[in-house]
Amino acid sequence: MSDIPKFDVLPEHIGIIMDGNGRWAKQRGLKRTEGHKEGAKVFKRICEYAADIGIKYLTFYAFSTENWKRPPEEVSVIMDIFRDYLGEAEERQEENRQKQLRMRFIGIREGIPEDIQILMDQLEKNSDDKNKTVVNLAINYGGRSELVNAVKKISKKVASGELSAEDIDEEMISSNLYTANQPDPDIIIRPSGEYRLSNFMIWQAAYSEFWYSDVLWPDFTEEHLISVLRDYEKRNRRFGGI
Ligand code: IPE
Ligand code: IPE
Ligand code: MG
Repeated sequence: MSDIPKFDVLPEHIGIIMDGNGRWAKQRGLKRTEGHKEGAKVFKRICEYAADIGIKYLTFYAFSTENWKRPPEEVSVIMDIFRDYLGEAEERQEENRQKQLRMRFIGIREGIPEDIQILMDQLEKNSDDKNKTVVNLAINYGGRSELVNAVKKISKKVASGELSAEDIDEEMISSNLYTANQPDPDIIIRPSGEYRLSNFMIWQAAYSEFWYSDVLWPDFTEEHLISVLRDYEKRNRRFGGI
């Protein structure tokens, strides 16, 4: 798809909960892991298309801190998919250079296979100077654990006397999250017919708009993204005002 439509207003930051891979596969009599493979292809396409439209920040929820509860075989295939994606280093670098994508990984590194952690660090480092679109890929991410991490960082400063408890404010919490210095998501997309956040950006979502659909993530297309953005143009965000 090459046409880039014009919009009156664009969200600065879009969060996407990539859900429904398993059901997509089941519908086709395939193994759940086939759904994850298809989902990864859709991630690449939508990421590029959103960057082409001019979205400045994208956060894709790929694996939650709760997803370790799944059968080890499924988790292992998901890790293989991350490894393959990151391993296409040359290709990634070229794509990042062309599209000016800055890749960031948010979540807890610990627990992720070490070779994947190394690839994550490399890709972050190699795309550090790109400045068109920031792409956060949330892997082993949980909003609650992100807040626990922020509270620990701030507490250490209070304990050492660097900070007083009275100085703690909303801005300080925000700036100790993985998304420090990034705007909160303006809209969060959740496909697959579920109506919940599932621990995604629970602090940052305070005033996010939501877009839900029954479409399963592997069936999500550029047209769906356009329809999200058309919807967003009509939203009246009041932030508590009138
Ligand atoms: C989302 O798809 C991918 C991950 C959570 C890793 P699911 O695997 O949750 O797909 P469904 O919800 O079972 O269909
Ligand atoms: C949310 O999907 C996590 C990701 C998409 C990575 P889940 O499938 O894990 O969410 P629940 O369990 O249905 O809430
Ligand atoms: Mg799911």
